Amino acid sequence: TSIVAVVPAAGIGSRMQADRPKQYLTIGSQTILEHTLLKLAAHPAISRVVVALSPIDQYFSQLSLQNAPWLTIVDGGESRAESVNNALVELAGNEWALVHDAARPCVNSSDISRLIERTEADDFGGGILATPVRDTMKRASADAANPVVLKTEKRDNLWHALTPQLFRADKLREALASALRAGAVVTDEASAMEFAGYTVELIDSDPANIKITRPADLPLAQFYLQQSR
Ligand code: CTP
Ligand code: MG
Repeated sequence: TSIVAVVPAAGIGSRMQADRPKQYLTIGSQTILEHTLLKLAAHPAISRVVVALSPIDQYFSQLSLQNAPWLTIVDGGESRAESVNNALVELAGNEWALVHDAARPCVNSSDISRLIERTEADDFGGGILATPVRDTMKRASADAANPVVLKTEKRDNLWHALTPQLFRADKLREALASALRAGAVVTDEASAMEFAGYTVELIDSDPANIKITRPADLPLAQFYLQQSR
């Protein structure tokens, strides 16, 4: 069965504090969104890409790939989960949805391949790229202005959840819908699948697969993109 990339790109990038949504900032000769979409489209296992854009997006129509034959555009929603939900409408039930943040242009192709191989071979609920936590983890008090340590969490089995995240489209659609209905906290696709009772595999990622979030992430992403060329 075919694998369709789903790219939520409807956010405003408030933490980046730029003059435009962060996916439209340029690294080298291309926007972050172009880097991400082209990398996904170039992967041999990915047949097409569905991107969710803000309904009031002013930038995408200026990009040269707006008429790419492998690309479908849908309206994003208020939250990342809703943007993904809207994109999933374009997928057949038996297709695999490979959901990937627009803001992660540095993902490498071999990690995408390993994610696909492992997830398809084991065929549990799905699989995600992730990286083990390196620092000591502290649980803090709820007072965000003046936090103190409540306890040190055991770091042994803690991972950062990255993207891509790969699931069968019909299962993910059901899981997202029921999680959203139940008001569950859905910050990634895996959390919706976990909520629905599926087992999600962790596939070790190159930690260069950062999500561009704050201004300091831009030069870092530029460095990683140059390295991978
Ligand atoms: N996203 C989306 N629809 C939303 C919110 C986010 O498609 N309503 C996308 C973003 O465009 C991004 C990805 O989800 O590619 C990850 O979200 P995040 O890094 O939080 O991006 P923003 O929400 O744009 O940034 P911020 O939280 O700083 O405003
Ligand atoms: Mg956000």
